[in-house]
Amino acid sequence: MSRIPLAQLPTPLEEAPRLSEALGVRLLVKRDDLTGLALGGNKARKLEHLVADACAQGCDTLIAAGGLQSNFARMTAAAAARVGMRCHLVLGGHAPERVTGNLVLDHIFGATLHFVGSGDWRVLEAGVEKLAQELGRGAYPMPIGGATAVGALGYVHAADEIVAQLPALPDWLVVADGSGGTHAGLLAALPTSIKILGIDVARPPVPHRQRIPALAAQTAQLAGRPLPGGELHLSDHTGTKYGSVTQESIDAIHLAARTEGLLLDPVYSGKALAGLRAAIRGGLVSGTVVFLHTGGAPALFADGYAEVVS
Ligand SMILES: Cc1ncc(COP(=O)(O)O)c(C=O)c1O
Repeated sequence: MSRIPLAQLPTPLEEAPRLSEALGVRLLVKRDDLTGLALGGNKARKLEHLVADACAQGCDTLIAAGGLQSNFARMTAAAAARVGMRCHLVLGGHAPERVTGNLVLDHIFGATLHFVGSGDWRVLEAGVEKLAQELGRGAYPMPIGGATAVGALGYVHAADEIVAQLPALPDWLVVADGSGGTHAGLLAALPTSIKILGIDVARPPVPHRQRIPALAAQTAQLAGRPLPGGELHLSDHTGTKYGSVTQESIDAIHLAARTEGLLLDPVYSGKALAGLRAAIRGGLVSGTVVFLHTGGAPALFADGYAEVVS
């Protein structure tokens, strides 16, 4: 499968000595918050393949969906601008009175925004389908989080990159699971001796326990890799619902910021670190751990989050 370069790769893999000491493991941070496109994040890797696929199909309009503060939406808007395509974003909820966080960037990148009144996955995906029909042949609709086998190829390459950067394989890799596409790509390509812990932050209608292995198998097939044999480890730290702020994620944001000067976010990476802390305390995770920093910091400046994390 072809790819269009959109990300600054490879991203650094950094030791985090003060955070390691606080957690009681050796922690390395894979800095996919530094992929560069539109302030960075994991979706740049997926978009390299999705945009290439859209071009190969002769499409000229990307359609993405997500919550009001979707990082995937923001990065899709930037990717579309970069390759000269149009971008439509289907966003959960109602148009807010104040434009903050990722929404500011969606506007700056010139995307057309559609608010569907609800953050429900099915409503968002129905919104994408309806829009794709209205826009016709040039439209390239993507599921929430770009979670297709094509998108997940980005994390097949990330897995290879991580292995090449490490002198010895780690015991664990920890990642936030929103749509599960990142986890699926990693599962398709990391050596099975590296256990992957996915921290569920979204509780999708089809649960990750089903979604991720199915998508990993499709991704491995597309990448020409053997069927994934790694075990699925999941832990739910969503809180009451997708996007809700939990005290443990605020504590994790403060811990990473105050030990390493590292910015996490309240929706994804803060919950991932909170999940890792809980897994260490519970005795599941020990040894050397790679924390995949998937980005998300623009949400720190959004209404509803800025007040509670500061
Ligand atoms: C910052 C951030 N981290 C993690 C994720 C989760 O990635 P995935 O949807 O591939 O599970 C997303 C997107 O959903 C994200 O925006």
